[in-house]
Amino acid sequence: MAADERKLDVDGSHVIVCPNAEAASRLAADRIAAIIEAAERDRSKAVLGLATGATPETVYAELAARHRAGSLSFQKVVTYNLDEYYPIQPLDPLSYRHYMHQRLFSLVDIPANQTHVIDGTVPAAFAAEHAAQFDRWIEADGGLDLQLLGIGRNGHIGFNEPSDLSVEEAINLPTRPVELHPVTTTDAVREFGSAEKVITQALTVGIKTILAARVILMLATGPRKAEIVARSLKGPITPTVPASLLRTVAEKVVWILDEPAAAELG
Ligand code: GLP
Repeated sequence: MAADERKLDVDGSHVIVCPNAEAASRLAADRIAAIIEAAERDRSKAVLGLATGATPETVYAELAARHRAGSLSFQKVVTYNLDEYYPIQPLDPLSYRHYMHQRLFSLVDIPANQTHVIDGTVPAAFAAEHAAQFDRWIEADGGLDLQLLGIGRNGHIGFNEPSDLSVEEAINLPTRPVELHPVTTTDAVREFGSAEKVITQALTVGIKTILAARVILMLATGPRKAEIVARSLKGPITPTVPASLLRTVAEKVVWILDEPAAAELG
């Protein structure tokens, strides 16, 4: 562990606080590279669940730099992305397929047919079946060795939004079509340019699939995330704060934060 990192146990959750966002991204990239190496050794491939949003951009830049430097190959890596807007074309610059292509897939040696992003063009009548198929593909690949996560300001993970389901129901949610929460669509104005342009539906990997990953890395940086990080780690375990459900599998989750995002942990 680097000298300037702080390791905390917050009511049973493993938390690592880094001095800044760059250091947090580097640590996440270190963990991802180690998981790739271990999974390839144990089962000759590594299956990664990947996230989008502003937070992991520097993680992907770091992974791509390691590839360029010759220290990391993605030839035996299989990826499944967490979510996609719906409907959206893959070449739309706002699609998560495009995001991943720009920030990682086109910069490393991953074979195109090993990258999976939910298809935002599937006809509405087949969207639920396509989502269910995504879960079956992950299972057929032996499950996720790693799920990388970010957190929405309302506590969403992927696009699993706050709900009034029971904990039991919420932790069993499969991959499926969803409506986005007002906090999420408000935050998405940053990407879409105006409120009218924001796509309000999506397909998301379900909480059940996320919680089944063998390791979960939650990355949160910046002061805007401080309140929801504290609510997720210290408030009640409740589907109204989806990230709090990660505490049902706390032993395999690592929260990687920077100091501003950890500010309300006390
Ligand atoms: C988006 C994504 C999430 C992401 C979250 C936070 O809506 N669907 O997977 O974790 O919002 O994004 P950001 O990192 O930009 O704050």
